[in-house]
Amino acid sequence: MSRFASSPAPRTALDGIPAYVPKPPRPPARGTSYRLFLNENPFPPLPSVREAISRASDGSNHYPEIFPTRLAGALADKYDVPLDHVVTGPGSVGIYQQIGQAFLAPGDEVVYAWPSFEAYPIVTRMAGARPVEVRLRDHTHDLDALAAAVTPRTRAVLLCEPNNPTGTAVGRAAVEAFLDDIPDDVLVVLDEAYVEFSGTADAVDGVALHRERPNLITLRTFSKAYGLAAWRVGYGFASPAVAEALRKCAVPCGVGRIAEEAALFSLTVEDELRARVEEITKERDRLRDALVGQGLPVAQSRTNFLWLPLGAGADAFARELETHGLLTRSFPGDGVRVTVGGREANDLLLSVAPAAARVPDPS
Ligand SMILES: Cc1ncc(COP(=O)(O)O)c(C=O)c1O
Repeated sequence: MSRFASSPAPRTALDGIPAYVPKPPRPPARGTSYRLFLNENPFPPLPSVREAISRASDGSNHYPEIFPTRLAGALADKYDVPLDHVVTGPGSVGIYQQIGQAFLAPGDEVVYAWPSFEAYPIVTRMAGARPVEVRLRDHTHDLDALAAAVTPRTRAVLLCEPNNPTGTAVGRAAVEAFLDDIPDDVLVVLDEAYVEFSGTADAVDGVALHRERPNLITLRTFSKAYGLAAWRVGYGFASPAVAEALRKCAVPCGVGRIAEEAALFSLTVEDELRARVEEITKERDRLRDALVGQGLPVAQSRTNFLWLPLGAGADAFARELETHGLLTRSFPGDGVRVTVGGREANDLLLSVAPAAARVPDPS
């Protein structure tokens, strides 16, 4: 009998979480492949950020601080927020784990829209809590239905604004009215991972909102607009009591030294980064207009990706794109999410999308 035939049983709460199965490397299609499936920034780090990373690597034999206090201080200054409001983690997904540990218990309910960020059901289930998923309406949060789904068992509401994977935003006034409907003892996580791409006057501002609402945590990241996904740095703002609870659950030294330096340095070159964000949003709008012109359905996007609600045709479309080297993310039966890439990838998408949309679904 194999030595591994029996082993200690993990918590049953984990039964509902799919195991991580590494994907076999995708075979190169025709030539270059383009990663358009994780909403990454298409630009490599700025040369000055690379230099900062390289300088910081000299200290790799030293542990980082328990919490990245210099980064927290810089964020507090930038947003004019007291230091004890700042939370950090190894990516904003790291902060989600802190939220699960600090606030969720078996039997609690967590309300969020679906489809939305795929970490939500995982974090909820990991805590033994129950996901309550509310379908989007017109690819957008149905805020009335979300508010109606809140019950005395609801411990948290997760609101992704703008929403991943659809790219849509409901805007500041609607979010504020929604927050007014949520009881004070329910935690609201406002996920602003794509806030820098929103670019509209009515975009929600979680930093401002958290000042008046002690039940609100706003989460942001260096992974998207700042282009530092590999370094895993997320941050957020919450009332001192909520932030303290999250810090208690943070992995000590969870933000590495080099990651902290990269993030810190990025805050000093925001103008250059903003120019890149502008380039991405221009490309996004060009791409969307052209795809719509080709007769494809594309949701309005306030992010660095586009959502094509192709329903039953989603998988066939994504598979066909893959044969051309365009690696996108299909949500079978719903749609396909395509990250805005560099010019070359975007032009390739435009040249193959109409034919890909005509490929019949084999099932
Ligand atoms: C809505 C949303 N929140 C959070 C994240 C995670 O960001 P991080 O890299 O900071 O963990 C993502 C990444 O795709 C996301 O789409």
